Amino acid sequence: MMKNTKAIIFDAYGTLFDVNSAAEKCKDKIGDKWEGFANYWRTTQLEYTWLRSLMKRHKDFWQITEDSLEKSMKKFNINNNMRNELLNLYKVLSTFSEVKETLQNLKEKNFKLAILSNGTPELLNHLVSTNNLENIFDDIFSIEEVKIYKPDSRVYDLPIKKFKFRKDEIVFLSANTWDVSGAGNYGFNSIWVNRSNNIFDSLDFKPKIEIKSLNELLSIV
Ligand code: LAC
Repeated sequence: MMKNTKAIIFDAYGTLFDVNSAAEKCKDKIGDKWEGFANYWRTTQLEYTWLRSLMKRHKDFWQITEDSLEKSMKKFNINNNMRNELLNLYKVLSTFSEVKETLQNLKEKNFKLAILSNGTPELLNHLVSTNNLENIFDDIFSIEEVKIYKPDSRVYDLPIKKFKFRKDEIVFLSANTWDVSGAGNYGFNSIWVNRSNNIFDSLDFKPKIEIKSLNELLSIV
């Protein structure tokens, strides 16, 4: 199924970069509720992307991250003096542990490697450079080019327009189940990175392949 792969495209937030790592680094100050707070912040952030796309009132991912943080801090009674620290940490999220080595191995196999993300170009470039991944990616595609959020099909069109590959020559990976479905419904070979034993959504596409860690990809493509 994946033998004709020409490009491997990764979702960023939650797939390469650990979105909970910002709140986790503050867990001494936030206390036991840090994980519930981190999950609420993430869920609210994503809801705002979908709602703004439906309302046709685009704001970039950084503004949405700030807006969703404001609601989440109120909901979890987190002192406002944590705001800047959390936002600064969100700009330098850590990768999951296997990411760098896996990407280097894939690069040696001469696949085109890219990111396709809701993040702004500035945010994504910063995450890539702070995690020392500058020499890995051929392209970093941001939804800012079309100003509509995933899973709108115009987002998944971006790498097709650039690379001119067929959809089935592209492997797309995401830890976000709805993003896996969006890319799969679009026609990519979409793989689910299920690190924490989650439940898949019912959104018309079920991936044929589910992995627990990105390094499993090396035996698939
Ligand atoms: C992204 C979100 C979906 O990086 O995590 O596009």
